Amino acid sequence: MVCHFRKKFHKRIKSFLVICCFVSPTYFIYSHRLVKEEPLCLKNTCSCETCISDRGISHWFDRRFNSSIQPQLTSNNENIPREVLLWWLTLQSRHPRVNIIHSKLFEAMPKSDPSQSASPCRCRSCAVVGNSGNLKGSNYGELIDSQDFVIRMNGAVTTGYEADVGKKTTHHFMYPESAKDLESNVHLVLVPFKPQDLLWFMNVLSNRKNILMYRRVKSYIKADRDKISIFHPTFFKYVHDEWTEHHGRYPSTGMLALIFGLHICDQLSVFGYGVDKDGNWHHYWENNRLAGAFHITGVHNATCETRIISHLAEIGKIQLYRGRHGAS
Ligand SMILES: *[C@@H]1O[C@H](CO)[C@@H](O)[C@H](O)[C@H]1NC(C)=O
Ligand SMILES: *[C@@H]1O[C@H](CO)[C@@H](O)[C@H](O)[C@H]1NC(C)=O
Repeated sequence: MVCHFRKKFHKRIKSFLVICCFVSPTYFIYSHRLVKEEPLCLKNTCSCETCISDRGISHWFDRRFNSSIQPQLTSNNENIPREVLLWWLTLQSRHPRVNIIHSKLFEAMPKSDPSQSASPCRCRSCAVVGNSGNLKGSNYGELIDSQDFVIRMNGAVTTGYEADVGKKTTHHFMYPESAKDLESNVHLVLVPFKPQDLLWFMNVLSNRKNILMYRRVKSYIKADRDKISIFHPTFFKYVHDEWTEHHGRYPSTGMLALIFGLHICDQLSVFGYGVDKDGNWHHYWENNRLAGAFHITGVHNATCETRIISHLAEIGKIQLYRGRHGAS
């Protein structure tokens, strides 16, 4: 791909650098926006200084990362290969019914993947925000809110914790049991762990109101009907095969959201993963300090997932913010 420099961009870069170096962070954010509006197409894969999908930086990463795997189900790509379906159906059931998914599900799906528009002229920054207690007192709120996309998951709350976790959310990952009400501008990404989750979703899609229903879990969930999507089972299995490499029965929602971020973003900052400063696994909005509560579930392998995340940070594919994490 051939990209052109233009003189005004040179000027803009110069003033951008001056502003970056000498003026306050507020100006930094402002000038950054200006550059984004008329992007510099410097690179093949994106217009940031470095792009997640750049190859040749890490062999380990290049062997795993496959940009052709779509993270979200759309009506264009609803074909789920049989081996994916069989694997996915046994996640939470020993006697799966294979023919449970039918075309109705896809009638209301978006036509193309709304998050997939990688371009050499795009520099999309994202934050994926886990729910770890290490966010307490971290003061990351402003930094998180300054990213283009902010991905949260499960029971994440922001009200009352804005200084540490920010208040912006663009994508919220959940499964029916972890579902909660969302603001109208937030993309709900359903992570289906079992066929019932899809049935729940089919009910949701056939409902004309902005109300999602799942009787046994939560009666009603508020979400924007136009902004709901399903995490692709093929992508789910890709994370299990290529990233966690079959450690644990299947990857955690946190791991799925992080790899999703690698695929839809050009730069990714990661917050709220791992233990807090006392070595506890708990949510930042809770006081329960059941050490190891998440660690020993046996379903996910937290050791393995933590190593992958650390390695992604070491090779510069993500920026990892460990919060108030102790020396351990
Ligand atoms: C990436 O995934 C596609 C679709 O599954 C597959 O055909 C292709 O071989 C994969 N590429 C690599 C390098 O593994
Ligand atoms: C978790 O993964 C690590 C390697 O990352 C491995 O050493 C350990 O045995 C695994 N634990 C379980 C319970 O499978």
